[in-house]
Amino acid sequence: MSIDTEGRKTREVCAEDIALQQQYIEKVKELNFLSAAQKGKPKHYSISTFGCQMNENDSERLAGMLNAMGYTETGDIQQSDIILYNTCCVRENAELKVYGHLGALKKLKRENPDLVIAVCGCMMQQSEVVEHIRQKYGHVDLIFGTHNLYRFPELLHKALVHKETVIDIWESSGVIAENMPITRKESVKAWITVMYGCNNFCSYCIVPYVRGRERSRRVDDIVNEVKTLGRQGYKEITLLGQNVNSYGKDFGDSTDFADLLEKVNEVEGISRIRFMTSHPKDLSDKLIEAMRNCEKVCEHLHLPVQAGSSKVLKEMNRKYTKEQYLDLVSRIRARIPGISLTTDIIVGFPGETEEDFEDTLSVLKQVRFDMAYTFLYSKRTGTPAAKRPEQVPEEIKKQRFDRLLEVQNKISKEINDGLLHKEVEVLVEGLSKNSARKYSGRTRTNKIVNFKGSNELVGKLVKVRIEKIHTWSLEGTII
Ligand code: SAH
Ligand code: SF4
Ligand code: F3S
Repeated sequence: MSIDTEGRKTREVCAEDIALQQQYIEKVKELNFLSAAQKGKPKHYSISTFGCQMNENDSERLAGMLNAMGYTETGDIQQSDIILYNTCCVRENAELKVYGHLGALKKLKRENPDLVIAVCGCMMQQSEVVEHIRQKYGHVDLIFGTHNLYRFPELLHKALVHKETVIDIWESSGVIAENMPITRKESVKAWITVMYGCNNFCSYCIVPYVRGRERSRRVDDIVNEVKTLGRQGYKEITLLGQNVNSYGKDFGDSTDFADLLEKVNEVEGISRIRFMTSHPKDLSDKLIEAMRNCEKVCEHLHLPVQAGSSKVLKEMNRKYTKEQYLDLVSRIRARIPGISLTTDIIVGFPGETEEDFEDTLSVLKQVRFDMAYTFLYSKRTGTPAAKRPEQVPEEIKKQRFDRLLEVQNKISKEINDGLLHKEVEVLVEGLSKNSARKYSGRTRTNKIVNFKGSNELVGKLVKVRIEKIHTWSLEGTII
């Protein structure tokens, strides 16, 4: 295996590797073909995904590979021949959920020894987790990580043939696997991961340790994927990366995310473009200009602030102050009027005082985000913040969390109230998840709108008059 100086495996090797996986896909398919002939039914799989949209997108690749190997998806784990968990470790509760699920599968595995239980994703990049699973969950058949996901066919083949636990975790890799099969969950909007990894090392965050350093996909590979989606009838794409603003920095030329947006904006068939996540320290005026100029790029920006106190921000290693963040927001709003802003906030970072927390509340009130995703700080082994002695007691964290939510919910509702009786453009996604017989879609500003509709409207842009306001969604009538 040849590795270049930046740890990026040469594309040629990668292409060879992918070709090898195609052979394993064929091998497993043959095994499944024989089994289906014997048993009179195809084999089934189920995938449960935890964590962020990039993990969701990875699961779509895993589903693509499983379908190519002759498996059929089922939502019922009792019917599954393969149960796969694609895990997240960004907070402790995400990990606990996975252990809960794995524990519950012991009985199923005893009743059906042919069942394959596989776990992959971010959690597996931590050696203590793999060791724990080996010791406590001996019924797991296959463990792999984030860097070798594209080798799933080979690993699965090994698990099926050798009938022993297969564990394959890579410390790191520069591999960017292109042209893997994919089965997307949705038919109107699609995720596209444009870069992998993160170089920021925010002091609370485990992601850089489990996802490795930043690697950008080539512009042409991304544009071709978007073109394919356009031809397949997809209308909206979301470009994904832990920090899309550093897209291209590893190319060694001047290509950046604004250039990518402009290229993607030209693709026919696609009517809306979104992206996430943007790190405030890297959001350039050039990108703001590109957002303004590209008509398909929606007026929504997810801009995690994490905390309002400049002292806490420094300790978080975020590399901006409260004032710089507020200034950035003003510049964005001046150039893109009406843009909706959403954010992530961590409550109870070690050493956060009441005064620091009030700074967070004040940022919330000054910016007036459309929505905020709020998290209780969770200690992650191996990160600098976990070693700090002044951890905030759980009780105080929870109280602050509730106070924050109260302030934000009021703001979200007030902003939504401003849309009453207004006409908005909605991309119809399908039946509403919450209200039976209603259809659902989003505005360009990413607000969920429910309305009476019909199946023919799915994938179409419609005008809706807003008639009812909720904190998290809107209701209206198509006009
Ligand atoms: N790359 C993105 C998001 C990464 S994870 C970004 O930089 O914004 C998504 C969110 O999880 C983060 O924005 C942060 O708010 C939260 N998060 C990350 N680590 C956490 C931790 N240890 N405890 C609580 N929340 C955390
Ligand atoms: Fe984690 Fe910070 Fe990277 Fe986001 S930018 S993934 S919060 S280290
Ligand atoms: Fe979780 Fe990994 Fe995403 S830790 S948030 S699934 S990158």
